[in-house]
Parts: sequence; structure tokens; C-alpha cells
Amino acid sequence: MRVLSGMRPTGRLHLGHYHGVLKNWVKLQTEYECFFFVADWHALTTHYEDPQIMEESIWDMVVDWLAAGIDSGTATLFIQSRILSHAELHVLLSMVTPLSWLERVPSYKDQQAELKDRDLLTYGFLGYPLLQSADILAYRAGIVPVGEDQVAHVELTREIARRFNHLYGREPDYENRAEEAIKKMGKKNAKLYRDLRTAYLEQGNHEALDTAHALLERQKNIALGDKERLFGYLEGGGKIILPEPKALLTLAPKMPGLDGRKMSKSYNNVISLREPPVEVEKKFRTMPTDPARVHRSDPGNPDKCPVWDFHLIYSDGEKKDWVQKGCRSAKIGCLECKQVIIDAVLAELKPIQERAAELSRDPLAIKNIIAEGCKRAQATAEATMAEVRDAIGLNYS
Ligand code: TRP
Ligand code: SF4
Repeated sequence: MRVLSGMRPTGRLHLGHYHGVLKNWVKLQTEYECFFFVADWHALTTHYEDPQIMEESIWDMVVDWLAAGIDSGTATLFIQSRILSHAELHVLLSMVTPLSWLERVPSYKDQQAELKDRDLLTYGFLGYPLLQSADILAYRAGIVPVGEDQVAHVELTREIARRFNHLYGREPDYENRAEEAIKKMGKKNAKLYRDLRTAYLEQGNHEALDTAHALLERQKNIALGDKERLFGYLEGGGKIILPEPKALLTLAPKMPGLDGRKMSKSYNNVISLREPPVEVEKKFRTMPTDPARVHRSDPGNPDKCPVWDFHLIYSDGEKKDWVQKGCRSAKIGCLECKQVIIDAVLAELKPIQERAAELSRDPLAIKNIIAEGCKRAQATAEATMAEVRDAIGLNYS
């Protein structure tokens, strides 16, 4: 099982990335063959007017990955734009991708609405999820760890793979035998079967698949072997060139930001992984608490306080109990309550920052890690592409 995931280089990594993504990657790298990459082309779909942010972010991002515990000896780390196979597969997949599949991906309209200051009515932005499909399929990844907002992209990838396999993965003998079996169902049922199969394979219509299963179940005059052949044929049959990946949802609870919303650069409420300790302290000391707690003697309610969300992540049962009781009875002050979080965050960041400082002293070593990773990625993606070209019939000599 191969794992693949990417991250866009659009700024400094923060605690949200650490808890939501990196800790998970660190765990996965011990269990699977992992490919982690810098999705710079994806960043370009939204930042094509200010691409300089990418160069600034790329190397810092790789340093942060390594500092957070990603092991370049185990996982393959690379930069998307250095592996041209992603672009080649993207263009080939684009040939078989209905426009409507891209237009209905929820993030397409959502992001356009959210990033109003950018013109996202571009061909590249519409193709964002398809480029992601190419990223995944080029490595024939089985598992794609992503956040909730990306699940629809993995779902699209599955449908694209299915359609591709259906169009280019058929084995002539298999097909002939399946076609013979279809005829045995009689004219009317044969047509129905064919229509349902097309609806599933080409449009991803799952109801059609269920109806077809029921139709096959009802057939009395075809042999069991033929029946099984027709079940397989319904789901593509033939050869699987591009396997369908599965999304692996990160289970970590949402990292809260300093204002009660989720931690995100666009809300300006983050603690970056490189945040100097004095800044960490300052940011927590000045962050809002339960607005009802104006004076030290006013009791508070943790449920109405964004600091409590941090206790949910950083504090054990005993500490949480101390906060609940102390806050509601005004026995503890907010600064005292925050200090527990400050200590926990500083302790978490310390080893990361030490490693990052050390790694930053040797930029050449980082570039070598990426060069090495690109080589491995290139070889893996090229193996897929050779089969893809072959299947489409592009290997003319
Ligand atoms: N779109 C992803 C994000 O914004 C980044 C990404 C690009 C990705 N290609 C990918 C993630 C392939 C998983 C697999 O987070
Ligand atoms: Fe929030 Fe803690 Fe203050 Fe209660 S004591 S209001 S939980 S910071």
C-alpha cells in the first residue's frame, strides 16, 4: 500500500498543520511506503499573480516537515513541478474528464466565493482537483491522507480512475466473453444491462450499479460462470491500470485558533511552528477569554472561552478538571489558566524549533534530500506513465 499526500506552499506552517497533518504523516511513514510532496502547481492555481510566495515557502516547508519528524530516509519527499509526469497525466486525464464533474466539485464554487480578491475563473483553477487526481494516480497510491475539505477530490479521483480503466483497460478476450454472456439475457435485458453499466462506469451512477446487480440476480437462464463474469464486467472488468485510491480522514480534532475559529492563516490567528517563545507567550496572554469574566473575581464558563479549546488538545483529565472547577468558581485567574497552555505549546515547539534551526544551517542538505526524493518519485511515476501511454496507444515508434 502506497500513501501519497501533498501540501501547498503558501506560507509558514503552524500548529494546525502540525496537529492536523504532520503528526499523521509521521505515523504513516512507519507503516507504509510514503510520498509527500510540495504542491507548488496547486499553489499557482490561486497565487499565479504572486508566485514569489512559493519560493519563500517551499524550503521552509520542507525544513518544517523534517523538524516535525518526517524521515527522509523512509518517506520520499519531492516537489510537484519537478516531476513532469504529473502534467502529462493531467493532460491525458483531461481528455476523458467531463466538464460537469469538475464544475460540481464543491470546493470549486466555495473557494471562488471565499477568495473573492483573486480571479479564479481560470482553466487552471477548474482543473485543480484533476491535477490532484493526476498526483495521486501517477503513484498508484492506495491511501491519501487528507482533511475533510479534500475528500471530494479523492472521490473525483476514484471516478476518473474507474472511467480511465473502463476506456483503456479492457482485455479483448474478457470483453468478448462478457459480450457473449450479455446476449444470453435476451434483447431487452441485454440493453438494460448495457445502459446501466455505462451509467455506472461513465457517470459514476451508483443507483445504476445496484439496479444492474438486481437485474443479474433475477436472470435464470445464464450459467453461474457467466453471471459472475457479468458482475465483474459491470465494474469495469479487464485490467486496472489506475487503481482507485481511498481517502484517509485525519482524526485529529480541529486545531483552534487564537480567536475561537479554526487555526488558519487567513484568519490571522495562528501560532507558527517557528514562532519565537516570547511571541507565543504574548499571543496567548492577549487572546480573548470568556467575555463575561471581566474581573478576576467573576466566575467564567470554559464553554464560552477559546482558551478551553486548547485545554482539550493539550491538557489531561486532571488539568481539565482544575480548569473547569477553577474557572466556574473564580478560584483561578485567566493568566494562570493560560500559562498551562503556554507551557505545553512551548514544550511541544522546543524540539521542533531546535531541529529546524539545525536543518536551516545546511540548506544544501535540504536541497539534496529533495533531489534524492525527486529521483525516486520520477522513477515511480514514469513506470505508471509507460503503462498509461501503452494503454491509450501512444507508444508509436
Ligand atoms: N489540494 C491539497 C490541499 O490543498 C494538496 C494536494 C495537492 C494534495 N495534490 C494532492 C493532497 C494529492 C493529497 C494528494 O491540501
Ligand atoms: Fe477561559 Fe481559563 Fe479564563 Fe476560564 S479561567 S475564562 S477557561 S482562560
